[in-house]
Amino acid sequence: MTELIPLASLPASRLPALANLHCATMPTLLTELGYPFVLRYYQIAQTDPSVIAFVATHHSEDALAGYCLGSPHPPALTARLRSSLPWFAGQLMRLSLTRPFALCQLAQSVFSASPVNALRPGQIELTYIGVAPHARQRGLGKTLLTTFLEASQNAGYTSVILSVETENLPALALYQHFGFAITQTFTEGRYHRHRMERLLA
Ligand SMILES: CC(C)(COP(=O)(O)OP(=O)(O)OC[C@H]1O[C@@H](n2cnc3c(N)ncnc32)[C@H](O)[C@@H]1OP(=O)(O)O)[C@@H](O)C(=O)NCCC(=O)NCCS
Repeated sequence: MTELIPLASLPASRLPALANLHCATMPTLLTELGYPFVLRYYQIAQTDPSVIAFVATHHSEDALAGYCLGSPHPPALTARLRSSLPWFAGQLMRLSLTRPFALCQLAQSVFSASPVNALRPGQIELTYIGVAPHARQRGLGKTLLTTFLEASQNAGYTSVILSVETENLPALALYQHFGFAITQTFTEGRYHRHRMERLLA
């Protein structure tokens, strides 16, 4: 049986499994920066009270089945990756040697931070949602999104915003199923994305 638990309640010992699942399912810049960045991101997110996030666990398995994470301040959350300067500097050195392309993309995203992504008061961004490949098309994406929307509404938000790559048809179908509407289409680095919004009742 699959159970959703808030990220804040996930034991720290399971964060590496969550970071691995993120890397395996979410081909975005954070993943391209590598596992250490992803793990640190979730460690930071877990202690941020403004983050709304859930993790899907199986009672019988160690592996995680899915996750969703949203924030009213996504750039501030990622900026906290730089809060430990020695760690950050070490990671940049590693990237310059192993993934120079990801480093270029990081620089590009820092210097061309898109105004498209700015949130207004009352808005929360669904930043990440993913389901393990073996668990897909069985309703878990819907369960995660339903839980995220309910939690966002209960926290007082009036709308949920997200970005999705234009060719990500399963995700687009999921969002349209829930009444998200495309508000803008834009290019960010090498990504072509729709910005979508759904008002909360
Ligand atoms: C998008 C994703 C989270 C959907 O998870 P899921 O558990 O497979 O979704 P569900 O089984 O709950 O399906 C929900 C709806 O999504 C749509 N959908 C899901 N998979 C689909 C597919 N392969 N093709 C078309 N539509 C699909 C359908 O509308 C479906 O509703 P229906 O079953 O009533 O037709 C999953 O495919 C995933 O993790 N993808 C990789 C990560 C990702 O792209 N995340 C979004 C980033 S913006």
